Amino acid sequence: MDGEQDSRRPGLSRRAALAGMVAAAAGAPAAAQTSGEGLAAIAARAGILFGASVARDIDEDAAYRQLYREETRQITTDWALKFDALRPDGERIRFEHADRLRGFAEDNGLAFRGHTLIWNENAPDWVRKKSTAELGRLFDSHIEDVAGRYAGQVAIWDVVNEPFWPDHGKPGGYRDGPWLQALGKGYVAAAFRRVASIDGKARLALNEAHTEHGDRLAAMIRPLLLRQIDELLDAGVPLHAVGLQGHLDSRLPADDKRFADFLREIARRKIEIHITELDVNDRRYPDAVAERDRQVAARYASFLKEVLAVPEVRVVTCWQLSDRYSWYADPDVRRKLLDGRAARPLPFDDRMRRKPVWQAMARAFSERRVTG
Ligand code: G3I
Repeated sequence: MDGEQDSRRPGLSRRAALAGMVAAAAGAPAAAQTSGEGLAAIAARAGILFGASVARDIDEDAAYRQLYREETRQITTDWALKFDALRPDGERIRFEHADRLRGFAEDNGLAFRGHTLIWNENAPDWVRKKSTAELGRLFDSHIEDVAGRYAGQVAIWDVVNEPFWPDHGKPGGYRDGPWLQALGKGYVAAAFRRVASIDGKARLALNEAHTEHGDRLAAMIRPLLLRQIDELLDAGVPLHAVGLQGHLDSRLPADDKRFADFLREIARRKIEIHITELDVNDRRYPDAVAERDRQVAARYASFLKEVLAVPEVRVVTCWQLSDRYSWYADPDVRRKLLDGRAARPLPFDDRMRRKPVWQAMARAFSERRVTG
């Protein structure tokens, strides 16, 4: 099916595109893992494109820049391509930060993932004051301005981020915000169609949060996301991949086998699956660093064992690489989500040293056994 073009499901032929990118990222498959290899080289042999999100930190930290060169084959813009980063106080766009990250990707042969064109969360206040008609025009012009600037340079766009949040009480469980209010649930399809009309090369992904958990909200969001995928594909909307964030959380219930079953439901739609923001909120694990690191590594191992068994999983991206630059290091986030304790969520510690998570990820990639 890979090579065929399904008129209703245009994503099929693009699967080959990403498969090609993963294969290219893999380079000549080595016989065995050498000790100096980074995670991306190990992952590529398992057919996975591995990367991490980046913010302005790599502008300022040469050691961190080098870590990305050694460990990743793809970077995701953590903030630089979000609406509020580009247009913080009005229609004038500030591309400098995103341009630097794109240049870093190009200079180092890394696939560049744009996150995210449309997100109903954290729209600047000036946007929320716009009329419905003005919001419709801004929606179109924002996508044209941003997707147009990087046309042909973005490997994957997170076109729409987090479409659902049932606790907002909106019809269909959609996340509330200016784009939903102005355009209704059709904003999702409209965004994908508009990006595709501007950049025919980028693979287009719908990125969702929270489905990785085993709680009430995940159980509500999963069917909503499946229905959205079907509506988009049945309407011939160019959807090539679904991103599932993977912000694992020691405070929430988890059932990785059931999550993998959900991934197989998505896979039946013949679109790729990307784990897009992998990290662990370690708040419920012990204070003692050695034991905490062991439990965080075990959490990654359990999750990746089940997820990597699904053949349609083609991309795994951590949300930053080092604990020093994790979003959990932000004082507000640390206070709200960690009761003030410093988190240890990622493969590298705050001095760029490999942690047990790194070994757990390397093993999960090396031992990938695809089933069904
Ligand atoms: O760097 C600017 C600074 O120059 C400016 O003065 C200041 C004014 O508020 O903002 C600073 O930027 C902050 C940015 O992170 C720095 O990278 C923004 O305020 C802050 O809102 C932004 O938070 C990001 C958050 O999304 C909201 O965009 C986090 O870094 C980022 O990790 C987080 O990532 C989200 C994903 O996009 C979606 N999934 C959940 C994930 C975690 O919340």
